Amino acid sequence: MPRRISPPSRRAVLAGGGAALATSLLRCGAMPTDTTPAGRLEETRLDDQAVTLVPAQRPLQLAGKSGATPAWLYGDKPYPLFRVSSRKSVNVTLVNGLMEHTSIHWHGVRLRNAMDGVPYVTQLPVQPGKRFQYTFVPPDSGTYIFHSHCNTAEQFGRGLIGVLVVEEPEGMLFDDDIVLVIKDWRVAEDGSFLPFITIDGASRAGSFGTLRTVNGVTAPEIATLAGADLRLRLVNADSTRVAELGIEGANAFVIAIDGNAVEPFALDGWRLGPAMRVDLALRSPQAGGKVALVDYFAAQPVRLATLASEGVSQHSAAFTPRALKPRGFSEPVVANAQVHQLKLSESAVATDYSGLAPIVLPDGSRIDLLDSLCSNGRTLWAIDGKTWPQNGHEHLPPPLMTFKRGDTALIEFLNTTPHVHPMHLHGHSFKVLSASKLQRPVHWADTVLVMPDERVRIAFVADNPGNWMIHCHIIEHQDTGMMAWFQVT
Ligand code: C2O
Ligand code: CU
Repeated sequence: MPRRISPPSRRAVLAGGGAALATSLLRCGAMPTDTTPAGRLEETRLDDQAVTLVPAQRPLQLAGKSGATPAWLYGDKPYPLFRVSSRKSVNVTLVNGLMEHTSIHWHGVRLRNAMDGVPYVTQLPVQPGKRFQYTFVPPDSGTYIFHSHCNTAEQFGRGLIGVLVVEEPEGMLFDDDIVLVIKDWRVAEDGSFLPFITIDGASRAGSFGTLRTVNGVTAPEIATLAGADLRLRLVNADSTRVAELGIEGANAFVIAIDGNAVEPFALDGWRLGPAMRVDLALRSPQAGGKVALVDYFAAQPVRLATLASEGVSQHSAAFTPRALKPRGFSEPVVANAQVHQLKLSESAVATDYSGLAPIVLPDGSRIDLLDSLCSNGRTLWAIDGKTWPQNGHEHLPPPLMTFKRGDTALIEFLNTTPHVHPMHLHGHSFKVLSASKLQRPVHWADTVLVMPDERVRIAFVADNPGNWMIHCHIIEHQDTGMMAWFQVT
């Protein structure tokens, strides 16, 4: 049977394994559930209820690996799923069970700046053993991802990721509502992690994972109701991979992009970059029938997950995908906009040094300049000709853009590199007005793919005061320069 929302426990604590801190917290709270059906995420209903998240190292046995992977997780299993009703508050205390500092960024949520989870920029990073309370009422329904924003290549790569679903005011609109988190783990045969940043990856399309998973499992089969109206919330939680997602065995419709309602349209392959989300609606087949989620981007299509129909058919009438209500964003008035063209480029520094021979030290060892530039970070990629400095969080460079509250921003991304960049803005949702290459309807988003040589125009009303990041969500690009910030005063 598909899982219905579990009744709220008095105070849920997602903890376990590892740190002594985590175990002591575990005793004073209830685990969310151990009855989660196969392939689904463990879910906790928030609705004003306070919960504690303890990121810690927890062993994870991944399929086909000879040993456990030293994952860093927010709970016992990958990716806790929080559901919250419309207009109810999220109240999450982060207690750091890691050996290094961390923070949580609520990607896509238009919350107040102090809750945005960017180290030094919006809060001090949370030191080992210390805590930070995130409290906010999400203004918009939708599918969100949350993740660490500290040492992101490693913390994100090791699994510090979760999902926040903010329900529509009307409540559950479908017979079943299934979250599918797509992520590749960068692991060796013995389960240990491979380096999260490589010079090859950071300077090109990113370092790809070696094991494809959905909800932390390789090709899970998930039971669902037969002949039912399903909502699939697809979340790309990979550091690197842009998937080209399709559905086989049913006619699927796109109903939301980054959680924002769109007039339903038939799915015909959807490119989902890191941190992007897309919601689909479909009618499941009769009992015994199967529906597959497939990635067509690879040379051989990859079956990522399967839904298996069970029981009596829920509906006999023909299927029409239910349209979600659009959110009430302020409409950008483009005629009065502050216009910025942001060129996405390789950074000058990397270009200058890339042709140089390695330096040979007196002891015969060699230093590859590009390698050391990369590991010293922040020098491979630029936005508008500027790279994010190595100590950028502590010592903010000048803002890339400054808006007065209520200004309309019109940004044209121009990608001069041979690689795709999923560009993300914090604190705001923007309207994707046009794109010169990859066809997309006009839609609202918080992350947008900019293809090689593409021009993408977005607009939004800068109505959320604070200091907000803007960056590529291929984490190795973000970590090697492709990040900046903008100010709304
Ligand atoms: Cu999901 Cu600043 O990122
Ligand atoms: Cu990028």
